[in-house]
Amino acid sequence: MAAQPITTSSPRLASPGVPALAVHGLRKTYGTFEAVRGIDFEVKQGEIFGLLGPNGAGKTTTIEIVIGLRPMTAGRVEILGHDVTSAATQARTLIGVQLQESDFFEHLTLAEQLRFLGACYGMAPDTDALLGYVDLGDRAGWKLKQLSGGQKQRFALAASLVNDPPVVLLDEPSTGLDPTARRQLWELIRALRGDGRTVLLSTHYMEEAEVLCDRVAIMDKGVIAAIDTPLELIHQLVATGFKRDVVVRDATLEDVFIQLTGHGFEDESAAELAAANGRHGRGKKGATS
Ligand SMILES: Nc1ncnc2c1ncn2[C@@H]1O[C@H](COP(=O)(O)OP(=O)(O)OP(=O)(O)O)[C@@H](O)[C@H]1O
Ligand SMILES: [Mg+2]
Repeated sequence: MAAQPITTSSPRLASPGVPALAVHGLRKTYGTFEAVRGIDFEVKQGEIFGLLGPNGAGKTTTIEIVIGLRPMTAGRVEILGHDVTSAATQARTLIGVQLQESDFFEHLTLAEQLRFLGACYGMAPDTDALLGYVDLGDRAGWKLKQLSGGQKQRFALAASLVNDPPVVLLDEPSTGLDPTARRQLWELIRALRGDGRTVLLSTHYMEEAEVLCDRVAIMDKGVIAAIDTPLELIHQLVATGFKRDVVVRDATLEDVFIQLTGHGFEDESAAELAAANGRHGRGKKGATS
């Protein structure tokens, strides 16, 4: 069962020309090590923007500076025109974040955690809607330790929305999700954009970035190597004479996985239907992208 798009109040949009996120001359040093070495990029309102790069490239450091969790060494960061240093409080109310590693209260139920987080913003979030959005609607009274790794990931996404933020930052939101759940996450992220929100996400899955992101920045060793649409970056590489070894296959192991298990997050009836289809030799609809 696909998650229902959340119905929220309209995100608070700034004037059309103002970037959702502006990062200029950003540097971060840890002791003598320069983790982020003077990066510049802007994310337009309503974009899904991907931050890509190998382990240690500086993605999490950048995200944590944007959300005010780490001080920058130099540079300027603005959320919808609000400087994250000089107007920190205002900037923080405009963002929701799912960190690479999230800490929640083990002893609170999911609904209680969302209420607590909402209260931190002076808001009373619709916990049923938020949990329903990530297909955890039937888990409101559960505690975090009762959830699987992928369910925790989805809960963290719901938690990032408690303050109804116009700008959402997701640090590797699909890590740990099975292929079907990953595709459902893509739909959730598209729904956030459909609501008029801006999403910045980091990912190590290039096929995810290719189908989901309007533009991507590729970071390496603390600098940005390229920023553009996925298609334009591919065109630029092809223009250099690059050619892939093409292996045409009608299906991949991932297709097999989705055929066999591709029900909704917890939708047992869909699983039964898939099994029945298999028994009757009928194929299910192929993977969406
Ligand atoms: N608190 C810290 N003290 C010292 N060095 C740090 C600290 N946090 C991060 N670093 C270093 O900064 C660099 C960038 O780390 P960061 O976590 O931003 O990378 P990343 O791009 O998010 O990588 P990954 O894809 O593995 O999550 C790494 O070399 C890391 O070791
Ligand atoms: Mg990281």
